[in-house]
Amino acid sequence: MLNDFISDQKAELKIDGKVYQLPIIIGTEGEKAIDIRKLRTETGCITIDSGYMNTGSCTSDITFLDGEKGILNYRGYAIEDLAKNCTFIEVAYLLDHGSLPTQKQLDDLARMLTGFSMIHEDMIHFFDHFPPNAPPMSILSSMVNSLCNFYPEMTENPLENFDLMSARLISKIRTIAAFSYRKSMGQPLVYPRHDYSYCTNFLHMMFDSPVNPYEVNHDVVMALNKLLILHADHEQNCSTSTVRLVGSSRVNLYTSISAGISALGGPLHGGANQAVIEMLEEIHANGGGYRKYVERAKDRNDPFRLSGFGHRVYKSFDPRARVIKAACDQVLEASGMSGDPLLEIAKNLEEVALQDEYFIERNLYPNVDFYSGIIYRAIGIPSNMFTVMFALGRLPGWIAQWKEMWDDPDGRIGRPRQIYTGPTKREFVPIQDRIEE
Ligand code: ACO
Repeated sequence: MLNDFISDQKAELKIDGKVYQLPIIIGTEGEKAIDIRKLRTETGCITIDSGYMNTGSCTSDITFLDGEKGILNYRGYAIEDLAKNCTFIEVAYLLDHGSLPTQKQLDDLARMLTGFSMIHEDMIHFFDHFPPNAPPMSILSSMVNSLCNFYPEMTENPLENFDLMSARLISKIRTIAAFSYRKSMGQPLVYPRHDYSYCTNFLHMMFDSPVNPYEVNHDVVMALNKLLILHADHEQNCSTSTVRLVGSSRVNLYTSISAGISALGGPLHGGANQAVIEMLEEIHANGGGYRKYVERAKDRNDPFRLSGFGHRVYKSFDPRARVIKAACDQVLEASGMSGDPLLEIAKNLEEVALQDEYFIERNLYPNVDFYSGIIYRAIGIPSNMFTVMFALGRLPGWIAQWKEMWDDPDGRIGRPRQIYTGPTKREFVPIQDRIEE
């Protein structure tokens, strides 16, 4: 409850000579917020905060992020420890239930994931009706939304059915993602296997073929686990806030997640990992002259930005980027791509940018997307599927955030206000008297 975190401290606000006392809320990691819940009622004013840079939309027990110190913890556990020691499914359990699973809890979840891994045969026909070049993120979003039509019983008592509903979604989204890739390649669909773990099964569904069976590569499976863990939650970013906002109207989980997938697809959010690879490929195709691109990024008259650089909240470094960069060499070797020229260009670009005044002054560092595309490429995942991979990873976080929002006693429908700046009252003009303005 928000009220449990109100401290003895107060902020003072003076409007037209009148002083208002505003409570200060302090979180468990010492973060402070001015409580303005009664601001409009007491003062007649609202606050305005484009991009919500200073606005807390909720309290949350899920993820702690300190952008200045480069800290990211899920449920109190450091991202570095989780990426080193856990599978993605363990972390999904942690996010959605609040604690790391026992062996039995993990086995039960794995059994559910296997049991739910098929999608309704009628849904498979949907794939035939998207145009061949349809963006995979829009296919994913449409398919996830349609799950609420096939499994409506789950939407009625969402918290009672939460374990089933979340396992169903985590399992099926993987099948949908792999099937949409196979369809786009004109290849036969590969059904999941009961004896494979979550990540192995995904790679099997993506790459197995009757003429070229997929051979499980342990290092590649571990790398995929790591990448999905690093993307699993990131507190109130654009797509997660979308999931919460849409869900606050009390619409079902599937529809809320479908909206989050749509938000993630934008180039300033999850679409950045694809943009990074395209940028590196372009630099490579143009002879590898990366310095020119650094200069272009600094030029105010050029809209070009270094993709994979900068972050709204990380202002010292992105801890996820460090873990991924360290994993790059190992995965490239395991997949026979060591010496990938794109990795060399990425490392050079990073080195030059990190020593450049422009990037230093603005605290611009490589973000999680800067190296993730190189790993996905090495695994064999095409660049138009990168954001889909991000969505697979982010799903447990979205689910946890949706559940927390649904269960929040302070929760209400999300409905920001505005300051109107349009014309004041005008007389109505009949159509025959109107002149073009
Ligand atoms: N290359 C060059 N300059 C940049 C970059 C970049 N990648 N990012 C920010 N800047 C500059 C801006 O031009 C601005 O300069 P100015 O102060 O001289 O006007 C300054 O740094 C601040 O930039 P903002 O856009 O105000 O920062 P904001 O916090 O709003 O944006 C964002 C963050 C969107 C991530 C931005 O850094 C960006 O566009 N990066 C490239 C896209 C990207 O990698 N997105 C992935 C984000 S991570 C994720 O979603 C998982």
